[in-house]
Amino acid sequence: KPYSAIILAAGSGRRMAADRNKVFLKLADQAIFAYSLNLFLSDSDCKAIILVGKAEEKQYFSSYLTDKVTFVVGGDERQDSVRQALSRVASDRVMIHDGARPFVTLADLTHLKAHTNAILAVPVKDTIKQVNEASQISETVPRQSLWSAQTPQLFDTCLIKAVHQTAFDAGFLGTDDASLVEQFSIVPVGIVAGSYENIKITTPEDLIFGNAILASRSTS
Ligand code: CTP
Ligand code: MG
Repeated sequence: KPYSAIILAAGSGRRMAADRNKVFLKLADQAIFAYSLNLFLSDSDCKAIILVGKAEEKQYFSSYLTDKVTFVVGGDERQDSVRQALSRVASDRVMIHDGARPFVTLADLTHLKAHTNAILAVPVKDTIKQVNEASQISETVPRQSLWSAQTPQLFDTCLIKAVHQTAFDAGFLGTDDASLVEQFSIVPVGIVAGSYENIKITTPEDLIFGNAILASRSTS
């Protein structure tokens, strides 16, 4: 039942085009990364939290560090940041989470925790088109089996460490952690239905959506 959490905050937020790393931008009175940090702190099964940041931004995390929350320096790519953090994980299970996803809930964690090697995801709502180089549609991809991957993603620590090392050795870059398990092991990864509110704050309009989600939660 116990697990460790990795919270990734070592990106630069290029697509947000703000004056700083987007995870430090505030939604209401709190920095974006602090929402999920406080959520994991409130889960008694979460035994340790590894906060991953850039070396030059360590000072901005210092007030959040406790006996339970450790700072680790990230790497150039998200996958490098995860690999650095994994080397410090002591629990048998680990949840890997984007610090840019502030709206994950305790209910989401509870559902995910019931599994090993599973991710939160939501069914794709849009009609997805495969497009050729002439910007013409080559096909419409059947939607019923398509899901959008979110975080947290929960894994057996030995498994995820092994596939990260294999990916590193092979020079393979995946877009999430589950993709490395898919690529380099035969262990199945489960899908746990999450919430459409668990958005990743990526571009400026996501701040508008984020503030709307906060407002709806504060009145409910
Ligand atoms: N991340 C990280 N280390 C990196 C790159 C990303 O820890 N080298 C983290 C980000 O801080 C973010 C999460 O991974 O919380 C998801 O990545 P993304 O949304 O792409 O954030 P950024 O890489 O910061 O944004 P962008 O790609 O627009 O520059
Ligand atoms: Mg990125």
